[in-house]
Amino acid sequence: MSTAQGLPAPVLDASAAQPSFSAQAQARFARHGARLSQLLAVLYGQRDDFQPWLSGFLAQLADIERARSGDLRELDERRMGAPDWLARGSGVAYSCYVDRFAGTLPAIRERLGHLRELGVQLLHLLPFLKMREGANDGGFAVSDFAEVQDGLGSISDLAELGAALRGHGISLMADVVLNHVADDHPWAKAAMLGDEARQGYFLTFGDRSEVEAIEAHLDQVFPDQAPGNFTWNPALKRWVWTTFFEYQWDLNYQNPEVFAEMALAMVRLANLGVEVLRVDSAPYIWKRIGTDCKNQPEVHVILKALRVILDIVAPATRMNAEAIVEREEILRYFGDGLPECSLAYNAALMAATWASLARASASMVRQTALATPQLPAGCAWVNYVRCHDDIIWNVLRRDIETRGQDYVQLIGAVTDVLHGSAAATQSRGVPSQRHDPLHGTSGMTAELVGLRAGDEASLRRYALVYGVAFAMPGIPLIYMGDEFGQGNAAVTPGQEADDTRWLHRPEFDQAAMAQRHVPGSTPQRVFSLMQWFRQMRQRLRDNDSGQGAEVIAGLSDALFGLRRGPCRVLFNFSESEQSVELPAGRWKLYAPWQSQPRIVSDGLRLPEHGQAWLLPEPAL
Ligand code: GLC
Repeated sequence: MSTAQGLPAPVLDASAAQPSFSAQAQARFARHGARLSQLLAVLYGQRDDFQPWLSGFLAQLADIERARSGDLRELDERRMGAPDWLARGSGVAYSCYVDRFAGTLPAIRERLGHLRELGVQLLHLLPFLKMREGANDGGFAVSDFAEVQDGLGSISDLAELGAALRGHGISLMADVVLNHVADDHPWAKAAMLGDEARQGYFLTFGDRSEVEAIEAHLDQVFPDQAPGNFTWNPALKRWVWTTFFEYQWDLNYQNPEVFAEMALAMVRLANLGVEVLRVDSAPYIWKRIGTDCKNQPEVHVILKALRVILDIVAPATRMNAEAIVEREEILRYFGDGLPECSLAYNAALMAATWASLARASASMVRQTALATPQLPAGCAWVNYVRCHDDIIWNVLRRDIETRGQDYVQLIGAVTDVLHGSAAATQSRGVPSQRHDPLHGTSGMTAELVGLRAGDEASLRRYALVYGVAFAMPGIPLIYMGDEFGQGNAAVTPGQEADDTRWLHRPEFDQAAMAQRHVPGSTPQRVFSLMQWFRQMRQRLRDNDSGQGAEVIAGLSDALFGLRRGPCRVLFNFSESEQSVELPAGRWKLYAPWQSQPRIVSDGLRLPEHGQAWLLPEPAL
């Protein structure tokens, strides 16, 4: 197949299909339509029915486009005039479960004051579409892409919330779960009843030995709870490809109908005012048997085609790649020449920050930052500390092994610390897979740093991990509860055994919220820390003229230092005070209250896990 850059000649001039878009979209279609048909021809062009399929798909797309609201069309126009709007935003991202955070979609409006106090620009609501009854992977097993889950609200509530958030300068981000549907989704149900067209939406196999041959090349996402990648289905009398839980059926993107259905579902969400689509489990959507079936070139062709579709139908909308893979692979999701996703999770930096904290050495975070290039214009990292998922250590494997280090030994030592099994550790993390502690780590930030009320050292660790996320170029993400230093959710032993990620689903802490301005309380200290970081981030951005960050060379193993224009930020990952020479010039020293760094005659002293933000004098 051709890569997206070396696109084959179009099999069909998309404009020949003459879909009836609105006048504005027609102009965009005239500009981008040929690229769309080229991309889709890479995937489906060899099929005899490609041309009628494409015409039919474009006609459906045009129907949805014509239904786009006047408000969103205005937003489209504004955003087309500022295509880097997302990356340039000055706020932070916040990620939460609707029920835990507010109860329902309409009730989120009651939390607008809170979001504004934190300076939120991007609100990620974890899955709220109709989900599988019973176990549903936190809503990532979707039963209907066009309905909101009972109890959370309705589709019109979603549209109203999107508009209300927009009125406050907040963009709504929602998941589009591309890789799979729940086994009670109508497509899966129809397939089980013998509908051959729907059976073609899934990847099923009759022969156990065939499945075993494929399995030999695959990793496992939940080896304890959902071993293997295939599930026997008695109704189909076949093995169904189920990368995640057995009730999440992987979709077959070799079938153009699947692409069309999912693209239309995505555009409908955009029409409801979702401004950023979090492309869930992106690496897995295209399978190439005999490989690990991740990050295949066709994944990027699909995402580029989706991006063109958005550029035609809902150009105010952007995609955020959820690709928790090695750094080099994540980078491809920003597009190589042709636009793809505008955001991606900086999974390698996140894991490296935790590994550095656990090792009391800045080397991992420094090497990761050094190896991370400038992103294409308009793109940004989502820099996060924790999220609803466990920390997946594998994202560091290639880097560690390339440096000739022993992955098992190194990450084994890191997880011993974070899981509280090493001597003298304060961490209270939990292995996400009991049989393989190196697989992942669960726990809220407060647990992983061993936060204790009144314990300055633990507060400094909290500030250290969040400080890196705010100091690096990108959009810092606060995971719900982290703005108060909230600990793990109370779970039953059954829930924890079933999925340790239940620990990341705490109820919004009203008591902490009430204390957030009570001087000296932990919620106040953490909440003000987040506000402080946001201001400091803005100062760095105001001064770095868009040049990004440079890693400061020549520091000791304990220290991670960044240069942002004339500004410097220094982090001490070690457990002892560190001295560092100040560069020539006059500096104004800023630090979160926890850090207490000092400028002394021969330089700067940083306490254990301390940090210093240096701006040239006079203060800029
Ligand atoms: C993503 C989500 C995760 C979910 C998985 C399967 O990785 O972040 O929570 O389990 O996709 O949908």
